[in-house]
Amino acid sequence: MTEPMPVDEAPHQDLTKNKKKPPKAEIPVPPEIVTAYLIVRAAAMGVLGAAPASLEWTLPSVSLLQRTYLKEPGTAKFSIHVGKKMGLDCLKLELCCEDNNAYSSQQLWHAIQDAANELIAANLPIHLYEMSLANLLTLYGSVVLDGSHNLKKMNPETILTVATLAEYLVAVIPPGVPLATTGAIAHIELDLVQCHVSAGKKARKADVTLKFHVDYDGTNTTAADATPVTTTNTQPPPYNAAWFESNIRFSQGLALYEMVQKNASHVVESEPAAAVLARTTDPLDPDGKYNDDDEEDDEMVVNVEEVKGKIDYNKLVSQFGSTLITDDLLERLQQQCRIPLHRFLRRGIFFSHRDLDTLLTCMEKGQPLYLYTGRGPSSESMHLGHLIPFLFTKWLQDAFDVPLVIQMTDDEKFIFKGTYDEQTGDNLDYFANLTIENAKDIIACGFDPNKTFLFSDLDYVGRMYPNIVRIWKAVTTNTVNGIFGFDGSSNTGKISFPAIQAAPSFASSFPTVLQADRSSDMLCLIPCAIDQDPYFRMTRDVAHKLVHKKHGLAGKPALIHSKFFPPLQGASGKMSSSDENSAVFLTDSAEDIERKIREHAFSGGQETKAMQQELGADLEVDVSYQWLKFFLDDDNELARIGADYSSGSGEYWSTGKVKQRLVQVLHGLVGAHQERRAQITDEDVRKWMHERSLV
Ligand code: TRP
Repeated sequence: MTEPMPVDEAPHQDLTKNKKKPPKAEIPVPPEIVTAYLIVRAAAMGVLGAAPASLEWTLPSVSLLQRTYLKEPGTAKFSIHVGKKMGLDCLKLELCCEDNNAYSSQQLWHAIQDAANELIAANLPIHLYEMSLANLLTLYGSVVLDGSHNLKKMNPETILTVATLAEYLVAVIPPGVPLATTGAIAHIELDLVQCHVSAGKKARKADVTLKFHVDYDGTNTTAADATPVTTTNTQPPPYNAAWFESNIRFSQGLALYEMVQKNASHVVESEPAAAVLARTTDPLDPDGKYNDDDEEDDEMVVNVEEVKGKIDYNKLVSQFGSTLITDDLLERLQQQCRIPLHRFLRRGIFFSHRDLDTLLTCMEKGQPLYLYTGRGPSSESMHLGHLIPFLFTKWLQDAFDVPLVIQMTDDEKFIFKGTYDEQTGDNLDYFANLTIENAKDIIACGFDPNKTFLFSDLDYVGRMYPNIVRIWKAVTTNTVNGIFGFDGSSNTGKISFPAIQAAPSFASSFPTVLQADRSSDMLCLIPCAIDQDPYFRMTRDVAHKLVHKKHGLAGKPALIHSKFFPPLQGASGKMSSSDENSAVFLTDSAEDIERKIREHAFSGGQETKAMQQELGADLEVDVSYQWLKFFLDDDNELARIGADYSSGSGEYWSTGKVKQRLVQVLHGLVGAHQERRAQITDEDVRKWMHERSLV
C-alpha cells in the first residue's frame, strides 16, 4: 500500500476504511487463465448439479479469481459459494469418499477435472458480449457476476463483458482480456491438495474452492490454437435456461451422486463437520470475502522443509483445513485429564487440531489411546524450539496415562540432507548417531519409562513394513509431489518417506509395543508443530485402508498442532539450528543464555525511557515476553508482567526487567534439563529403544 501509484490508476475508494487492496487491473490476466477458469467453473457446476446460485441472491456466487498465476504461472484459484443444502451434499460426497473404502477423497476433484477436460476436448465455442450492468441484472440476475464486483458500489451504467460457454455457463469476465478459445487449452489439472469444501455445521452456505493449473504457455499450444476469441457482440446473448438449472450435467457428477445415495447410511447427518476432514471456515473471514487475496501472505512459507515469514495462524488453519481449538473443546479435554491443562493449551500455543473432538468422544466411551510424536535428528544439540512438542507430549502422557511412541527419522534426515563423498562415502552413520544423542535430550524430558518406546527408523522400520507397503500402494506419486512439492528430479527416498512417517499412526505398526494388530481399536493422537500436518493429511486420507471398519476414527490419527517457537531475532518464522544466535540450545551455559537474551532477543519496548513509560511495549513482537508465554508457568505472574511491560509502569516496566526474568526462568529450565540429561547413558538409551510391550 506504500507503493507509489500513477495518479490515473489511483483507487477511488477510501482504502483506510477498507482493508482490501486497490483494484488490480494493472496486470492483466492471461487469456488462457480466464478461459480455463470459465471451463473449470462450468465443470464444477455441472458435476455438483449446482445452479450458479438462486436468483434472489444479491451476493455473487463465485468469488474472485485469485491471481496465483503471478507466482505460479498457469494457475489460478476461485471459490464457488453454494447453498447450505448443496454444501451438505458436497460434504456428504467427501464423507462417503473418505469413509467408504471404495473411493478416495479426491474423487470429487477428479470428477470436476475430468469434466473440464471433456469440455476442452469438445472445443466448445466461447462468445463475448458487452452490456450494461443494469441490463445484465434484469436479464440474468447477479449470479453471472463474481467476487470482483461490488454491486452496491457499481454504477448501473457500467459496461461489462459477458462470456458464454455453450449451454454450460454465462459469466462476467475481467474487462479487456481477450479470451483464448477452448482449443487453446491443452489440459487442465486441479490442485488436489488445495481444492476443498468448507462448510461449518452452522454455516448457511458452503464454499467449494478450486485451484487449477492450465497448460498453455506456447509449448503446449499451437499458434493456431491460441487465436483469441475476438467476436464481441453488443446484443445480449440469447437467454438460455440451461445456464441456471440446478442439475447434474456431466456423467462424472452422476457417478458421484449415485455413490452418495448408496452410501447415505454411512453419513452422520447430525454432525457432518466433525467427521469430515475437519474443514473450517476462516473465523476471521466467515464469508470468504478476503481470503481471495493470496498476495497478503506473500512472505509466509510453511511446509515440511521450510518455515519463514510472518505466520498468520488463522490463515494457516484455513489453508490446511484444520480446526481452531475452542474453549469448549478445552473444557471437554480437561474432563478426560488427570491434571490441569498445560499452559500451552491455556495460552493457545497448541491451537489447532484434527478430530480431537471425535477422539474425546471415543475416549469417553472407553476406547484406548496411544500418543505418537517424533523428531528428525538433524543436529547434535537441540534448542528450546525442539523441546516444545516433547514438553507437551510429556504432559499428555501424564494427563492420560497412556503409551507413547517416538519416531526418530534418521532416514529422513539422511534422505533430505545427507551427503556422499567419493573418498569417505556417505554420512548415514552420522544421522544414526545423532538419534542416540537426541534421544538423551528427549528422555530427559521425563517420560514414563514403562510407557514410552523410542525408535530409530533405520532400526525399527521392518516392523512397520507391512503398513508402509499398504500406504505406498494407496498414495500416488502425484499426490505426494503435490503435498510436499517434490518432482521427477527428487530422489526416490523423498517420495517414499512420507509413508514411513505415516506408519506409526497405526497401532498395528507396533505388534509388540502396543500388542496391536489390524483389529486394534487403539486411537492415535499426534502432538506436533503445524508444519508436520501435511504428512498426516496424507495419512488420514488413506487411513481407512489400514484398519478394520469399526475403528472409532476410521483409522485416522487425531492431531493437535502447535505454533512455532519464535527465534530470538523476532517473532516470525521458526528457529534454526544453523544460526547459533537465533536460538538457545539445551547445551548453552548460563552465561551463553544470559548473553543471547540480553544481546539478541528482539525488543518490543520503546527507544527511550520516557517513551517506554508513556507508550509501553508491544508484547506481540517482544521475544522475551513471547518466550515467557512458553515457559513461565504462573498465569498470574505472566499477566502482571504483561500489564506492567505493555503500559511501561510497575516492576516490569522495561525490556531489561523482562529479560532478566526470562533469563532466570531459562536458567531454571535449561539447568534442570542438563542435570537430567547428564545422568542418561548410552545403555539407558538402549533400554528406551528396546522393543518391548508397553501395555
Ligand atoms: N519429520 C519430523 C521432523 O523433521 C519428525 C517426525 C516424525 C515427527 N514423525 C513425527 C514429528 C510425528 C511430529 C510427529 O522433525
